[in-house]
Amino acid sequence: MDIQNLIDSIAHDVAPYLAQGRPADYIPALAQESPQQFAMAVATLDGGLYATGLADKRFSIQSISKAFMLAHTLQRHGEALWQRVGKEPSGNPFNSLVQLEYEHGIPRNPFINAGALVVTDIAISEFGDSSSALRSLLREESGEPAIDFDYVIAASEAEHGHRNAALGHFMKSCNNINGGVDQLLAHYFRACSIRMNVRELARAGLFLANHGASPVSGQQRLSRSQAKQINAIMLTCGTYDAAGEFAYRVGLPCKSGVGGGILAILPGKMSIAVWSPGLDARGNSLAGLEALDRFTTRSGESVF
Ligand code: DON
Repeated sequence: MDIQNLIDSIAHDVAPYLAQGRPADYIPALAQESPQQFAMAVATLDGGLYATGLADKRFSIQSISKAFMLAHTLQRHGEALWQRVGKEPSGNPFNSLVQLEYEHGIPRNPFINAGALVVTDIAISEFGDSSSALRSLLREESGEPAIDFDYVIAASEAEHGHRNAALGHFMKSCNNINGGVDQLLAHYFRACSIRMNVRELARAGLFLANHGASPVSGQQRLSRSQAKQINAIMLTCGTYDAAGEFAYRVGLPCKSGVGGGILAILPGKMSIAVWSPGLDARGNSLAGLEALDRFTTRSGESVF
């Protein structure tokens, strides 16, 4: 497969979709991004790195951080993590409050905001400064020491993050948050604010494609079985109430973020990152989904 040729042609084909998406506006600092931007990168386990579009432009990874935070925390804390958060798709928007009360403060899965807050609470108990620990992991796995938080975006989200605060306080009332809610939110917003470009993100995903062993840092980040588990949850829950459509159209474990990025994993072969800040109604990159659909459809590669 000529990956470079394929992604260059995909970048051309998705251009008409760029105008159809809208950047997230509930975090004002994200609303300023023009939707007329696109980038895609593919990192392969045999050392290839292919990119097209605005591949050097860093963007806020937002909820894509949840996949790495889960990997880091599961590796350290182990199976006990699943006593506090489920593994089932929610079928609800990522920031929904309704299910949580019916289900006694145990979030459906680690990728909706409530679940990621629980994982972050566990990460704080394991690592102390959980957002800095995540930043270190992403620096090591991308091979790029300049990766950092975006404090303007983190502050913008903190100022408008009332739904996340509500989720945090509700779960605290159910005894599913151990630490302070303010500290928890600060770490969560900082992790979401991390900026990376598609090249860096695709490289950082390689350990998920390589059964937990990183070809970038040389570290065994996860056991083979844990890498399977994270990929399974990405497939079923990584794009929220659009997970069924992503599985149908893309056929890969994916994790999206409201910054417009999507990370997709083809186990045993490659990691793919796309970015375009215009979102669809369910909070996933509109052109990003179009690009991933074309990538797996034209290449014939997917987990199925
Ligand atoms: O908590 C939030 O709402 C954001 N920091 C992250 C949400 C997000 O990226 C959802 N992804 N599609």
